[in-house]
Amino acid sequence: VTLSVANSGGHPTSPYMYGIMFEDINQSGDGGLYAELISNRAFQNQSLKSWSPVGDSTLELDTSTPLSWALPRSVRVKSGKGKAGLKNSGYWGINVKKTDTYTGSFYSYGEYKGSFTASLVSDITNETLATTKIKSKSVADAWTQHEFELHPTKSAANSNNSFVLEFRPCHETELKFNLISLFPPTYNNRPNGMRRDLMEKLRDLKPSFLRIPGGNNLEGNFAGNHWNWSVTLGPLTERPGRMGVWEYENTDGLGLVEYMHWAEDLDVDVVLGVAAGLYLNGDVVPEEDLDFFVQDALNELEFLTGDVSTPYGALRAKLGYPKPWKIKYVEVGNEDNLWGGLDSYKSYRLKTFYDAIKAKYPDIFIFSSTDEVVYKESGRDYHKYTRPDYSVSQFHLFDNWTAEHPVIIGEYATIQNNTGKLEDTDWNAPKNAWSNWIGSVAEAVFLVGAERNADKIWGTCFAPLFQNLNNYQWAPDLISYSADPADTTVSVSYPIIQLFSEHRITHTLPGVSSDGFGPLYWAAGRGSASSGHGHHPGKGPSAKDDTYILKAAVYNSTASEDVPVSVRFEGLREGSPATLTVLTAPEGPWAKNTPDHKDAVKKTITRLRAGKGGEIEFSLPDLSVAVLVAGGK
Ligand code: AHR
Repeated sequence: VTLSVANSGGHPTSPYMYGIMFEDINQSGDGGLYAELISNRAFQNQSLKSWSPVGDSTLELDTSTPLSWALPRSVRVKSGKGKAGLKNSGYWGINVKKTDTYTGSFYSYGEYKGSFTASLVSDITNETLATTKIKSKSVADAWTQHEFELHPTKSAANSNNSFVLEFRPCHETELKFNLISLFPPTYNNRPNGMRRDLMEKLRDLKPSFLRIPGGNNLEGNFAGNHWNWSVTLGPLTERPGRMGVWEYENTDGLGLVEYMHWAEDLDVDVVLGVAAGLYLNGDVVPEEDLDFFVQDALNELEFLTGDVSTPYGALRAKLGYPKPWKIKYVEVGNEDNLWGGLDSYKSYRLKTFYDAIKAKYPDIFIFSSTDEVVYKESGRDYHKYTRPDYSVSQFHLFDNWTAEHPVIIGEYATIQNNTGKLEDTDWNAPKNAWSNWIGSVAEAVFLVGAERNADKIWGTCFAPLFQNLNNYQWAPDLISYSADPADTTVSVSYPIIQLFSEHRITHTLPGVSSDGFGPLYWAAGRGSASSGHGHHPGKGPSAKDDTYILKAAVYNSTASEDVPVSVRFEGLREGSPATLTVLTAPEGPWAKNTPDHKDAVKKTITRLRAGKGGEIEFSLPDLSVAVLVAGGK
């Protein structure tokens, strides 16, 4: 394949090309990124799930003395003869590391003059890995908070460990407990923060935006069940949590402020999803009632961005965050073309949100949650879960779309295998448990198609992002894990996204090839040697954009030989250095990463030099993904 890339023309690209999307699915918040180790810490599951009694004590749910309006249920521990207390099995175990300090707290109710013992114990050997005594402040008729730290004397061999909270009753004692919490060290040491290893995986993708809280969980199953920002704020005692749409309770410990901290820690901009009055049962908020929801979105924006003189800005300051955040992007709803929502979305829902938000925040860019509806200057959101051949067939999808309504590809993944027919998805057909290489290369072809249309595509994000291997509703996913960080596994799609994200094209350049597209799919442009995320939008090539970049994927090459490529960048001088990075999977199309086999993808880096006419020559095997960077200092 011979390519010739011009030195002018093309388009400035969006600086947001690669980002991440989050919703609480697959225990991705609770039991995932949110670092809390105690499962069902405040009985928001409305049961004693994850809890068991110590010794001959008994546990019962109690609602007679709520800890707060938000946390009405507690556990009543009735002692027997010996030690009394309760044990928590964590989110399918608890990781215990000697070098880590674990920070805990709990509320107790009832008179008790002794001391409590908090411990981490092995479920296999019963060995105590960490323990501490906490002098009781517990009194009759009131809730009292206790705080403690645990310093393990050794690391556990695996995550089959539990947390135990005990007391020694003098005679028959009844104490109540609630909001029993334990955190390991978190990313950037944020209180109430995020799991370090998972944040590091996100950081290493070099993302430029965070779409939150995208997905069905934003919408809710029925009226009143949508993700409600206003009850995810402040002290944990003020967060009731809710039954999320993916059939497990959300504590909302990972709430709106924590989302903003997450964005700060990754240095990314937020695409804020606001619930748009469509529920997954098909109910839609009628036009006459929609103002309440629109006002709620405006209040949320004021909470995040308003001056402290505004009511919601003042609330933010009162919670400890006087400095406003910046919100530049809002997405109205999620997949409002589904569940029978499209007509109302087109006729009044999008419009009402759009006009109200723009009236108050003219600089905010608004995405609709469909690829079809276009209202005024709104952007669009395109979602696709599909099969490899279909994903490849979408290489040209955006060629004729208009740049006036930029697209966030807010969810995409190849989730099933080819059937021999070029078809979209049959949801009843089995889905892959893990992304496989042929699917990931097909995603790469789709992404290269998006990059070629970078004037139309605002950004892309794979979905779902996370999967707890012990309880998930959707596979395949980008990053899988258990309580044990040794299990954390990135899918074979991850290194592709990482490679493309690390090498941002800042300005596309037109290229021609007499060979057309397929089996080699490619996009070319300028970039800066230090591209990564965050280049400035709309500026075109600048002195800093000192390299040429070619992104390519080979899908379904019928020839047994590798595909020979000769690329000529106009203006690139003979002898200029180039670096070719190629991703392949030696095990073939079905190669996948699993916790027992984490590196199915091989990365090869080759240094090259431009030949006489400035051309660079190399070859790419079938099912490979490559980035060539040429020129620069
Ligand atoms: O990513 C999983 C689900 O797929 C999302 O919740 C929804 O937006 C989409 O249909």
